[in-house]
Amino acid sequence: MEENKVTSMPRIAEKAPEFKAVTTQGEINFPEDYKGSWVILFSHPADFTPVCTSEFMTFATMEDQFAKANCKLVGLSVDGLYSHIAWLRTIKEKIEYKGMKDVEVKFPLIEDITMEVATKYGMIQPGESNTKAVRAVFIIDPKGIIRTIIYYPLSLGRNFDELYRALIALQTADEFGIATPADWRPGDEVIVPTAGSCGTAKERMESKDMKCYDWFFCTKPLKKEEIEKKILKK
Ligand code: BEZ
Repeated sequence: MEENKVTSMPRIAEKAPEFKAVTTQGEINFPEDYKGSWVILFSHPADFTPVCTSEFMTFATMEDQFAKANCKLVGLSVDGLYSHIAWLRTIKEKIEYKGMKDVEVKFPLIEDITMEVATKYGMIQPGESNTKAVRAVFIIDPKGIIRTIIYYPLSLGRNFDELYRALIALQTADEFGIATPADWRPGDEVIVPTAGSCGTAKERMESKDMKCYDWFFCTKPLKKEEIEKKILKK
């Protein structure tokens, strides 16, 4: 009888699964070492491949931007450490792409030749590949809780502006007790929660502080500077 292998997938609002791993920046104990910081744990299918190279150059170029939002980056693929080191050296020494050159990837890249971590995080999706991780993204908060999960297939490079937008939206929701509408960017109006503390439907509809499209859908302004003051490190 064929073995029915149950693979668990982490879910939003759960604790990030723990692991220890060797990386290009030394050993890490995850998520313990990242307590107090947001962290984006992401996987890529393979070193020395073009989509992944474009992604790493983009992410590495944006690392300081993420750091200012108290967010660290951690990459993973099922390649070994020496492959990672050689690939990152090639990127720095040889690749010039879309105005990016001499790009040094300073964040850790996990070696996962046993696929232990990739399996724990549901990064191996056999319909896509048995031997490579898909492009998974886990945004994890300072308490080690998974707040957002995004998966892309092998052929589709990620949008790193969107990952930054998602990070800032999560932090803004936490800091200001609001939600963010479709395509929200800092400076746009935010959504006021419907239930409880914001008064009756009539009060909401008549409030001068909010714009209500109906009793269940009210927005209010939230200045970009206010968000930056709370979230971004000087
Ligand atoms: C790439 O990064 O280019 C890639 C990796 C694995 C499969 C297909 C594309």
